Amino acid sequence: MCGIVAYIGNKEAYPILINGLKRLEYRGYDSSGIAIMQGNKISLYKSRGKVSDLEAYCADKNLSSTMGIAHTRWATHGEPNDQNAHPHLSEDSKLALIHNGIIENYLILKQELMNRGYVFESETDTEVLVHLIRDIYEKEKVELAEAVRLALTNVIGTYAIAILSVDNPDELIIAKKGSPLLIGIGENEYFVGSDGAPIVSHTKKVVYLEDGEVAVLNAKKALTIKNIKNEKKRPYIQELEMNLEELEKGKFEHYMLKEIFEQPKAIRDSMRGRLNVKKDVVSLGGIIEYEEKMLNARRFIIVACGTSWHAGLVGEHLFESLVRIPVEVEYASEFRYRNPIIYEDDVVIAISQSGETADTIAAVELAKEKGATVIGICNVVGSTIARLTHAGSYTHAGPEIGVASTKAFTAQVTVLVLMALSLARKKGQIALSTYHQLINDLESIPSKIEKILKQNEHIKEIARYFVGKTNAIYLGRGVNFPMALEGALKLKEISYIHAEGYPAAEMKHGPIALIDEEMPVIVLATEQETYDKVVSNIQEVIARKGKIISIVTESDTIVKNMSNFYIEIPQTAELLTPLVASVPLQLLAYHVALLSGCDVDKPRNLAKSVSVE
Ligand code: G6P
Repeated sequence: MCGIVAYIGNKEAYPILINGLKRLEYRGYDSSGIAIMQGNKISLYKSRGKVSDLEAYCADKNLSSTMGIAHTRWATHGEPNDQNAHPHLSEDSKLALIHNGIIENYLILKQELMNRGYVFESETDTEVLVHLIRDIYEKEKVELAEAVRLALTNVIGTYAIAILSVDNPDELIIAKKGSPLLIGIGENEYFVGSDGAPIVSHTKKVVYLEDGEVAVLNAKKALTIKNIKNEKKRPYIQELEMNLEELEKGKFEHYMLKEIFEQPKAIRDSMRGRLNVKKDVVSLGGIIEYEEKMLNARRFIIVACGTSWHAGLVGEHLFESLVRIPVEVEYASEFRYRNPIIYEDDVVIAISQSGETADTIAAVELAKEKGATVIGICNVVGSTIARLTHAGSYTHAGPEIGVASTKAFTAQVTVLVLMALSLARKKGQIALSTYHQLINDLESIPSKIEKILKQNEHIKEIARYFVGKTNAIYLGRGVNFPMALEGALKLKEISYIHAEGYPAAEMKHGPIALIDEEMPVIVLATEQETYDKVVSNIQEVIARKGKIISIVTESDTIVKNMSNFYIEIPQTAELLTPLVASVPLQLLAYHVALLSGCDVDKPRNLAKSVSVE
């Protein structure tokens, strides 16, 4: 969603800002803008569309400045246009502000400001902030940082903001609550980012601003941070865990393809130091202190959104089969609003690639309030969920830039497998032979994926069949049902073909009505307990002239003969099938989208990190 980049120092700000915006494009946005300080005035440039449109608009302008703020906006309040794009200016053009998040009481604040004569130029919730801060600054005759702090005490909602002020030309003021904000520390310069991507090429020394904090960045002075109660806070400098190469596409045409191909490495990195087959050890260091609580849990409640929710569904199979503790998997957005029953001996597991999904954050906060133990599975190191939870395990998949999640998903499932195996062994619930078979199989997953990736061209050929289709059905049973959901999600996200995932046997209760000769039906028919049942479901599709595209185990003969197209995956323990079966589904969606002329990495309307409800 929205992205923030800001700079103050002794270098030219514009190149830092515009390149920072390009690094933030992956988050999803529909307009962008820049404000720079030039002498005693703020110059503002905004444009609907891509950052390249803003860059073209700025091309012939004098952009010399050593201080500025820039933003990519994902529209919430008001359509994507130049007026609604950030930065927003105060009426006297002396203050410019950018904002991520949502001001929930903006209508009340707006009305109050309008009553006092303020005229609004945009439909955004953000514009209230700039007028409110300017109003307090003028009336209270306080320092700007104090005016910001006072203004924010009136605000309900979430924000990460950065402010330029003509009256304070040596200071950049930033503040946050609920939306992430990082300060990069250089030599007599500061960088600001809504994540590490616009910062990492400049410095790895970062400070994560905490909720309620307001920071003053002056290139000639040390960083000062105060909390909402006006108490001074000592900045805690950390090393940014991100590499520049990981943010580049390299030899790949798209980030999504690169990330699909990175899965063997991502999974090896997820397992590194945690799985040692020779020594017969599975151990997740991050949760050791909470393992007793997990072993004695009344139940696990997994909360997540999107693809991470699908990983949670796989987790349900893993934990119930191996650890024998009941599991509920909840959409974080539903969980948080239905007054759920949460016991103190429940263990809530929050899964999130970004660690910044607003609904998952709220679910974590709720579970903590009710006294449950909360474990995080996040990819982004230092993210909000990683910091809010009692303990957790990082997935270590490396930055994921493509909006459609791929390697983060398989890394999440890998961590869930490791967690389930380690708990099952300690609980004594698992037969030693099963445990050994699973750890051996897990170790071989990356090489199995490498084998699947070699079928890229074959999958591309199959994708041609989908071009021009408007619907698709994905079917799977057991642990393959979440894969049917995930396959359908991938296809609809990036190719805009309507797709539904269904438990294969449920097809008879509705979707079968849709099947005719035009309907592609993607069936996960790998070696599993319910294989014969799935074969019967395939017959039902064929009898209605549906076209079968199957994911089968290499040794399969029956389903291959029934299929219009098939993709082979290596034999794998049933519980680990999602780790391999998801790969051909990702590649299929990728090629269908590409052949249909879609923007694979930045699909319309979607955001990588959904930081609003
Ligand atoms: C967005 C992304 C999805 C992601 C979901 C949850 O919808 O486009 O790819 O699965 O958010 O995100 P999280 O960061 O919490 O895993």
